[in-house]
Amino acid sequence: MNKIIIAIDGHSSCGKSTLAKAMGNALGYAYISTGDMYRAVTLYFIENQVDMHDPEAVKAALGRIKLHFVADENGNRIHLNGRDVSEEIRKMHVAELVSPVAAIPEVRREMVHQQQEIGRQKGVVMDGRDIGTVVFPQAELKIFLTADVNERARRRYEELLAKGHPVDLEEVKKNLAERDRIDSTRADSPLRQAEDAVVIDNTNLNHEQQLELALDLVHLVF
Ligand code: DC
Repeated sequence: MNKIIIAIDGHSSCGKSTLAKAMGNALGYAYISTGDMYRAVTLYFIENQVDMHDPEAVKAALGRIKLHFVADENGNRIHLNGRDVSEEIRKMHVAELVSPVAAIPEVRREMVHQQQEIGRQKGVVMDGRDIGTVVFPQAELKIFLTADVNERARRRYEELLAKGHPVDLEEVKKNLAERDRIDSTRADSPLRQAEDAVVIDNTNLNHEQQLELALDLVHLVF
């Protein structure tokens, strides 16, 4: 069977990575959460005190950043210069800075280039904000995932608590709304629904229902 590219875009914390992973497993495809790449770059900027308003400093820093995805029993782990940062990048100090970092054109150019390289062989499910519009405008299937902001905040809150990160629900909700605002209004490749994307609102859907719906869409492509 021919392999295709599946692009999943949508708002923060609506379960894009969970769906991408489930689809990847069901289809035997690789899955890539591109948000992890922007988060890892943000972590590097924080740890190395890179001035994100200085394009030369940003460019030099990008030249020193090597990102790799390593699949293991815990899923797709992201390595920043050889270090597994998959846990660190989910913390609030990274979440608070990632949208401004992801709005920097030099950062986007480099990440999009790396994402296109990963998708060269097809057989990939990639989630993010601009996958169906900028990274793979020719993707065979585009899904735009969304959910009510209160529900999204509750899910992210539970997830952070379960991982042992003490957080405040209102703070999580504020961060989500602010990231949506920055992601949707930035000049360079803002979050928007591709014209040929299929919208799935998962506010009232569980994981199995979403996966079933998404796999039905895959079968429509063939
Ligand atoms: O999917 P996420 O919440 O882990 O993404 C983190 C941030 O990265 C989010 O605020 C927007 C940005 N991002 C982006 O601009 N483009 C992508 N393709 C993926 C994420």
